[in-house]
Amino acid sequence: MITGIKGMNDILPGEVETWQYLEEQARRIFAAYGFAEIRVPVVEKTDLFCRSIGESTDIVEKEMYSFTDKGGTSITLRPEGTASVMRSFIEHKLYAQDPVARLYYLGPMFRYERPQKGRYRQFHQIGAEAIGIDDPRVDAQLMAMLTHYLDEVGIRDVELQVNSLGCPECRPAYRQALIFFLQPQLEALCEDCRRRWCTNPLRVLDCKVPGCREATAQAPSILDHLDTPCADHFSRVRAALEDLAVPFAVNPRMVRGLDYYTKTTFEVVTGNLGAQNAVAAGGRYDRLIQDLGGPPLPGIGFAMGLERLVLLKGEERIAPPRPALFLAALGEAAGRQAFRLMCSLQRRGLRAETDFEGKSLKAQMRRAGRLQARFVLILGEEELARQIGQLRDMDAGTQEEIALGELAERLLERLGQRETLDAVR
Ligand code: HAM
Repeated sequence: MITGIKGMNDILPGEVETWQYLEEQARRIFAAYGFAEIRVPVVEKTDLFCRSIGESTDIVEKEMYSFTDKGGTSITLRPEGTASVMRSFIEHKLYAQDPVARLYYLGPMFRYERPQKGRYRQFHQIGAEAIGIDDPRVDAQLMAMLTHYLDEVGIRDVELQVNSLGCPECRPAYRQALIFFLQPQLEALCEDCRRRWCTNPLRVLDCKVPGCREATAQAPSILDHLDTPCADHFSRVRAALEDLAVPFAVNPRMVRGLDYYTKTTFEVVTGNLGAQNAVAAGGRYDRLIQDLGGPPLPGIGFAMGLERLVLLKGEERIAPPRPALFLAALGEAAGRQAFRLMCSLQRRGLRAETDFEGKSLKAQMRRAGRLQARFVLILGEEELARQIGQLRDMDAGTQEEIALGELAERLLERLGQRETLDAVR
């Protein structure tokens, strides 16, 4: 037997309905905030991720699926969506029509991490990027959209945490302050953090190892090192969030695992997912588009981890659609009629099922029960001669005679809803 790859999951019927629901709600809600979908390839030139995410990040240092293709080019399965979306935005000069763009995307991402609950090697993100405006109200609006989405899909018990990481003008001084602070404590840090101390010291604040947490408990705060424009931006973001009544907490220890961030960063965290506590995360990246060879346009965005949302939905999963009707036929002629009726109902958008194996009525009723059919139509020779059927309401346990010519109309009437598959959800 050939099995799937570790950390890469199948999404099976019964689970997929929750995925579809979460995706549909994102499309609906993001559209209301003016976001259009963009679809980009799942592979890019490796260089794109090195330049945007940063050479000294965990993602680029050790988590990328990179290959040399048959033409000798190093390509990488995308570990995130922002870099690809910016590459596409620049390549297609989308800014020429309008420097303000709101784009969203969904799809698989790939990181070679150690798999555990909520952390996989192929995982899925729904992300949104707002390009072209650096007004703090845009930061607040994006976080309001994220909160609105999570609330709408029933994700509760989460906290929005915000921070500012400053900019390339003020961050180096903070970085230096942190290096000084950590130097006498190097021995207490884990091996990874000893390496990070000189390559990416801010990441030490993010380490989950207890020794590192203890060593950094009194670390200086980035918020005390912001220059005036960054501090002003951050205070206006907070004011705008308060204005929109979006609850949040300031977390000055939040550093992100990607280097492109400037100013505002944020995460939505939960206590219900063990170590993988971030449901969604994002921030501002005012230099990224320029660094990738585009015009000097600011941007801000976030991505949610779909697997984590599905885990949080837990028992509240969306039920698969039930068949509207199971046609239980007895005898060859009735079987042919049932097959014709089934196909015509399906063309009208009603999920209908029948038996293909000439089983007994009892066996067919059992199957209808297993499929949780809403109605069963019993069609024997006598019924066929009179062009009628016995329609059994499986929920109410009642049965009535109906004319076959009126089957679709009567069913739709009884289902009392639109003429689509949704009718039996
Ligand atoms: P990120 O924090 O690396 O940010 O990932 C965003 C979210 O993706 C995480 O909060 C988590 O829910 C989910 N996620 C990440 N890695 C995994 C994994 N191995 N397994 C399952 N879920 C995972 C970004 O990717 C940025 N591109 C977000 C962004 C957009 N910033 C600005 N625009």
